Amino acid sequence: MRKQVLEEIAQAMVADGQGILAADESTGTIKKRFDSINVTSTEDSRRDYREMLFRTTQAMQENISGVILYDETIRQKAADGTPLTEIMTAAGALPGIKVDAGAKDLAGHAGEMVTEGLDGLRERLSEYHALGARFAKWRAVLNITDTAPSAACLSANTHALARYAALCQEAEIVPIVEPEVIMDGSHSVERCYEVTSTALTVLYEQLAIQNVHLEGTILKPNMIVSGTQNPVQANVQQVAEMTLDCFHKCVPQAVPGIVFLSGGQSDELATAHLDAMNKIGNLPWKLSFSYGRALQAAPLKAWGGKAENVPAAQAAFAHRAKMNRLAALGQWDASLEG
Ligand code: 13P
Repeated sequence: MRKQVLEEIAQAMVADGQGILAADESTGTIKKRFDSINVTSTEDSRRDYREMLFRTTQAMQENISGVILYDETIRQKAADGTPLTEIMTAAGALPGIKVDAGAKDLAGHAGEMVTEGLDGLRERLSEYHALGARFAKWRAVLNITDTAPSAACLSANTHALARYAALCQEAEIVPIVEPEVIMDGSHSVERCYEVTSTALTVLYEQLAIQNVHLEGTILKPNMIVSGTQNPVQANVQQVAEMTLDCFHKCVPQAVPGIVFLSGGQSDELATAHLDAMNKIGNLPWKLSFSYGRALQAAPLKAWGGKAENVPAAQAAFAHRAKMNRLAALGQWDASLEG
């Protein structure tokens, strides 16, 4: 492992005002997204949709440092035969790859999940590196109830995240470590704080045990928010303050960057939260975005599967990307949403 190579990639991923486009929806998830706009999910329609995003050249250049891809996409060619990875690289974005095999039921713990995918990972990472991937993603799913996540769930998931991260670094691929505390539920914002801080503490213990070089990692966490079914919702300033308080206590300063998932927040709220945190500032790590839905919901809807809508969809994507760039710099304002 060459530490410097990893550090340079990690720093490029969170260069000022740049963030990650999460376009790594599995075949099942992208089908759900396409169902919502009445488009049939086929290899070609998935390619057309993603090609459209990656060819939004100026927005990619200005706002997007990397794109997380799914296995199908990293191997796919555009309609004109150019590999999709080449299109994003030409627009200045690093190809990344989702390498986990998904969250499965955790035996003995009803309602809890453990993310699988370590078997054969060394070989897959080496192939992905040859295909152009310079960073990877592994997502753990942590549901909140009165008793969950259990110690078993936290330990199994953070152990897997740390083993994944060590294998990535061996292959000179920067691991995005993603312990996602799910927003669904009626829990309070304080309970989200408690679970997130426990998860991050256990995660960094595991990363230390596996000798992971933190300067060559990126953290992809949830924000500290109220459960979606809770009638009492923390406001933007509370979310920003509690999230930063939690991270100052739990995330080592050696970590170069934190890129948030949007997790089901509305586009504008995900932007407002990120902006509020960067406005508070005085942070040891870069704070940016790695949004899936909060970057894609608007272009997906504008596209609707029709070639004539491509310019409108690209404009919608460019707008959200720019808003999130401003939020990553603490320079966004609601009046810019138009
Ligand atoms: P969302 O921003 O839609 O939560 O997706 C980000 C992601 O990659 C989750 O793993």
